Amino acid sequence: MKDSYEIAVVHGDGIGPEVCGAAIEVLDATLGTGILRFIEYPAGAEHFLATGESLPEKTAQACRAADAILHGAAGLPGAVHPDGTEAGVDFSLKLRFGLDLYANIRPIRLYDGVESALVGIPAGGIDYVIVRENSEGLYAARGAGSVLRGDVAVDTLVQTRKGIERIVRKAFELARLSDGAPADGVRRVTCCDKANVLRSYAFFRAVFDEVAKDYPEIEAEHVIVDAMTMYLVQRPGHFNIIVTENMFGDILSDLAAATIGGLGMAPSAEVGADNGLFQPSHGSAPDIAGRGIANPYGMVLSAAAMLDWLGRKHDDKRLLDAGGRIRRVTEGALSAGCLTTDLKGSATTREVTDFLCQALASKEPITA
Ligand code: IPM
Ligand code: MN
Repeated sequence: MKDSYEIAVVHGDGIGPEVCGAAIEVLDATLGTGILRFIEYPAGAEHFLATGESLPEKTAQACRAADAILHGAAGLPGAVHPDGTEAGVDFSLKLRFGLDLYANIRPIRLYDGVESALVGIPAGGIDYVIVRENSEGLYAARGAGSVLRGDVAVDTLVQTRKGIERIVRKAFELARLSDGAPADGVRRVTCCDKANVLRSYAFFRAVFDEVAKDYPEIEAEHVIVDAMTMYLVQRPGHFNIIVTENMFGDILSDLAAATIGGLGMAPSAEVGADNGLFQPSHGSAPDIAGRGIANPYGMVLSAAAMLDWLGRKHDDKRLLDAGGRIRRVTEGALSAGCLTTDLKGSATTREVTDFLCQALASKEPITA
């Protein structure tokens, strides 16, 4: 345990500063000031447009040295590299590869008070985690693909035994700690791939099967990715932990978010052996930026995940307790109807933040 922890904060673009600011207020309301030291650094699309740099070296170094990294969101129209890819995504991708943040953990949970796009699903009826491989797969080609003579474009999908083993192991370890799937309470890890068509995915599946043998008490199954998109709509309650390649995990996590109220509800924790980056799954939503109506819940839940990770890493009960408190008041706020416009409510970012901070400050149970 340390006396205090340094958190590198990058607010980013669009609604990034609004939701990130909300999360910092909530963290302070939970822990008081002093335990977490927030230090802000520039990066992102706006910085790129102003300076030509999307991730300054000083920011990258500070992120590496910090105890954890908190990020709002990145990306702006027009902030593109000469090859047509976006500058806004540099921050996340460079940190993922540079700091080996191999596990992208994305909890998908339908909270009481939030309406799903799917009909007839009760609160808690969707409760699974997408464990997205975050350091290889198709994204490994970022910056290294090629376009030949203006006719042929190639990006290479890379899967290594080491990379697959560690992400699959992470998935089984999470299953061990979980309560199982909502539909039947079974602890289950689903390997999502395209093993029927491509060798690299057949390899992913073969390594998954090897690792699964070490966890006989946990059910292991395979689902092909195209069928998975259907099952996540038709019977989401079946799933507990889903482990998948980088690009598939990216796509599935947006689909999954749509079933729990939208991207504003989807947190994410990107962790490696030493570093952790915590940011919501959503983008910078420039269309609603600056209007004070962004949904901060995904960011706040990502901040709670940061406390869990830091708390476990440093064996610090203060942080573990605080993470639990944030999740409880979040649940309370949602079921009390404190909903932003994306959730069919009318609360502003400010109102949600105040609700959460007041609930954290009071010892009373939260009521509507
Ligand atoms: C996500 C985002 C990122 C991704 C971008 C910002 C690089 O969509 O975290 O899901 O594609 O992985
Ligand atoms: Mn995404």
